[in-house]
Amino acid sequence: MKFPKAFLWGAALSNVQAEGGYLEDGKGLNVYDTLEVDFENGQSTLSDTSVAADHYHHYKEDIALMKEMGFTAYRFSIVWSRIHPLGDDGKTNEAGLAYYEDMIDELLKAGIEPVVSLVHFDMPDHLRIQYNGFMDRHVVDFYADHVAVIAKRFKNKVKYWITYNEMNTILFGPRVIAGACRPEGMGDAQFHAILTHHTQLAHAKAVLAIKKENPEAMVSGMEAYSSIYPLTCHPEDVQAARFVDNISNNLTFDIMVNGEYPNYYLTYLKKRGVHFDIPQKELETIKSASKMLDFLAFSYYLSSTVASPKGVRDPMEIQNRLLMGKQGREANPYVKTNEWGWQIDPMGLRYALDKLYERYHKPLFIVENGIGIDDKLTEDHKVYDDERIAYYQGHIKNMGDAMELDGVEILGYLAWSPIDFLSSHKEMRKRYGFVFVDRYDDGTGTLARYKKKSFYWYKKVIASQGEDLSNLEKTVY
Ligand code: BG6
Repeated sequence: MKFPKAFLWGAALSNVQAEGGYLEDGKGLNVYDTLEVDFENGQSTLSDTSVAADHYHHYKEDIALMKEMGFTAYRFSIVWSRIHPLGDDGKTNEAGLAYYEDMIDELLKAGIEPVVSLVHFDMPDHLRIQYNGFMDRHVVDFYADHVAVIAKRFKNKVKYWITYNEMNTILFGPRVIAGACRPEGMGDAQFHAILTHHTQLAHAKAVLAIKKENPEAMVSGMEAYSSIYPLTCHPEDVQAARFVDNISNNLTFDIMVNGEYPNYYLTYLKKRGVHFDIPQKELETIKSASKMLDFLAFSYYLSSTVASPKGVRDPMEIQNRLLMGKQGREANPYVKTNEWGWQIDPMGLRYALDKLYERYHKPLFIVENGIGIDDKLTEDHKVYDDERIAYYQGHIKNMGDAMELDGVEILGYLAWSPIDFLSSHKEMRKRYGFVFVDRYDDGTGTLARYKKKSFYWYKKVIASQGEDLSNLEKTVY
């Protein structure tokens, strides 16, 4: 289908995973820099954030490549520890602000709408060590102060803002998502409840800070949406899938959009004896922010299939085991996976769009969608990533169907990602870019940029407003 003229096309990147330059120009270490990953071969932290894709020094070249692809929007993140290296001392690093200002100017010059994410795995490490991150209310205020500085500086240049990356995944990766680790003796439900509330409050305060500077700004929170299916039509599997869907997908936006905690969650906590006494003022902040939300941003990579845990009869125990997918995730026999076991399900994107729109009636913005592949560079510097093209073909087609056949309102589509970078587990080998970055997990590589086949394909898609999804003839690349 031909998408509307105003539809935003582009891609997204998390700067902390791409920049490198991790101690340059006054930047402080953050939770991702210090994340140690043990790979199977026993090595840890293979590709480190001191270099990553060296986007810190290549951003002009990278933006020129985005312009060449015809992007009309680009989502990136302003690294918290580059602006406020420690985070709690009120000291702002002007060099950090100047760096992102230049990036924004470069985008505007290229005719690309900046979409700014405010926290994407980049909390100052100091806040993790001293406060246990978002487990501590003080960190919510540090974050709000940080956002106020950024909103003030860029109010006339940035229209689209995303307050917090994938805040629904806090139990999967509390360290990088929220700078937190579970205090000893605390159960999953309590840990989840505290982090949920503090990140919602942080989001709400960010919305208010941005709107204070510019009431015309377009603001959203953001979550990772994975379409959830029951493994079978057995009522127990259906019930299990409904529970996982509520906690993983619905809860974050239910609070954000309605400005209150849904009854299913309050009941869930009460049944587990979780003390959840929130000050009235904080609830009011969440309520006020909910009235200012302009759209809903989400990432979509895969769908998940859920079955009720075998042999467990107690309904509460079933929920405990299902919480955030600890048990009950099963392989879907109808879809393929990539090398990392992520289920490739283009129609799941349509399902996500339909469900989100039916539930919230807000314009949607797909701000991440892509596939990790161990791309190989040929001797003549080419990458034949037809698998990536096939992935995108399916997802864009289904996005069109959601719009055209189901009446879903969609603002734009941002692929993940313009260039290769370190995965959330710091793996360079898991590549997502339209542009190959010559950098490897052993620290070698020239950092040169090479256009993959998908680069030219996506360029064609954008030029045709999403109408021409056909793969390229062999001779074109
Ligand atoms: C999203 C994150 O969860 O998924 C990104 O917002 C991340 O930062 C992306 O890179 C893909 O996940 P991974 O683990 O393959 O990097």
